Amino acid sequence: MARMKAVVQDRYGDPRNLRVREIDRPEVGDDEVLVRVRAASVHPDVWHVVTGRPFVLRLMGSGLRRPRYRVPGTDLAGVVEAVGRAVTRFAPGDEVFGESMRGLSWRNGGAYAEYAVAPEEALAAKPANVTFQQAAAVPTAGYIMLLNLPVRHLRPGQRVLVNGAGGGVGSIALQIAKARGAHVTAVEHPRRLDLVRSLGADEVIDYTREDFTRRGERYDLIVDIPGNRSFTECQRALRPDGTYVLIGHDHYGQVGRRVLGSLPRFARLGLRSLVDRRLRRGGSAPSKQETMATLQEELAAGHLTPVIDRAFPLADAGEAIGYLAGGEPVGRVVLTVD
Ligand SMILES: NC(=O)c1ccc[n+]([C@@H]2O[C@H](COP(=O)([O-])OP(=O)(O)OC[C@H]3O[C@@H](n4cnc5c(N)ncnc54)[C@H](OP(=O)(O)O)[C@@H]3O)[C@@H](O)[C@H]2O)c1
Repeated sequence: MARMKAVVQDRYGDPRNLRVREIDRPEVGDDEVLVRVRAASVHPDVWHVVTGRPFVLRLMGSGLRRPRYRVPGTDLAGVVEAVGRAVTRFAPGDEVFGESMRGLSWRNGGAYAEYAVAPEEALAAKPANVTFQQAAAVPTAGYIMLLNLPVRHLRPGQRVLVNGAGGGVGSIALQIAKARGAHVTAVEHPRRLDLVRSLGADEVIDYTREDFTRRGERYDLIVDIPGNRSFTECQRALRPDGTYVLIGHDHYGQVGRRVLGSLPRFARLGLRSLVDRRLRRGGSAPSKQETMATLQEELAAGHLTPVIDRAFPLADAGEAIGYLAGGEPVGRVVLTVD
């Protein structure tokens, strides 16, 4: 059995417990692709699974007492090493990016390694105009964004507010809305205002100085990443026929419940959406292959430009996760694999 270096998580807890070890290379299934990883992204859900918080994720497939899948990371960019028998879209040597997991699940995906397997449907060809690091920063955040905000909802001239527009998910929402001709207002911490301006924001709001729900402005669409205002407060800034999309962010355990995280809030909004059209997404959710195709097109067209704050070597994965959770990054944090 061929061996490889990988970040291994033996138990839930402090990311600094993560270690690089030699383990068996994963075997490729019929509809899977083995990728020689060049870069993988560090994002809030990696922090959740490494720390095991909120507790409910352990019941959702991550593993009750210890992680069932031991290698963290969910998105990657790299070069195809081998393909399964049923794979038709990729061949060894192709440069690809995508997710190492099917659907949406809250568990380790195996991307923090020299080699990772990914389902064919979760990969796309890496556009030549972006680096491996940039491409690796997009899949998971982009999937979350497009699941919640199908691009067909965006119209030229719409007034869109993105709360948390400088983060992983928000920066994709901002750029995709701009590419569709929307007028975008970005709400962020002062350290990220130049970033959101550079990504195309028409207006910026410093959240340490101003509450966007009290400006007297009304928007057709509010994409709320941090969810620091209730829906009732956000309604003040929403047109009567507008749409409110909550992504939600537990801020590394600082908000949300210890056991259930923000799930109760999503459940309440889900119930309310039965009677309030402004909370309805409409239409069916795109598949992972469709979202990867959209993200690939946006990258190739130059509509989506991932900004990298810092790249860490694989061996410093724990430090990279701690750096992300410290709240300092201006742009994305990634791991690189030599
Ligand atoms: N990125 C991914 O690949 C990914 C993948 C799966 C799931 N998710 C989920 O999606 C959510 C967001 O992830 P993300 O990567 O976008 O997080 P992120 O990069 O931390 O972005 C959140 C942004 O919101 C800002 N923010 C915080 N408080 C704010 C406030 N009061 N007003 C306005 N902005 C505020 C943050 O700034 P501060 O630093 O000042 O707090 C930050 O820039 C998380 O729940 C995560 O679990 C993300």
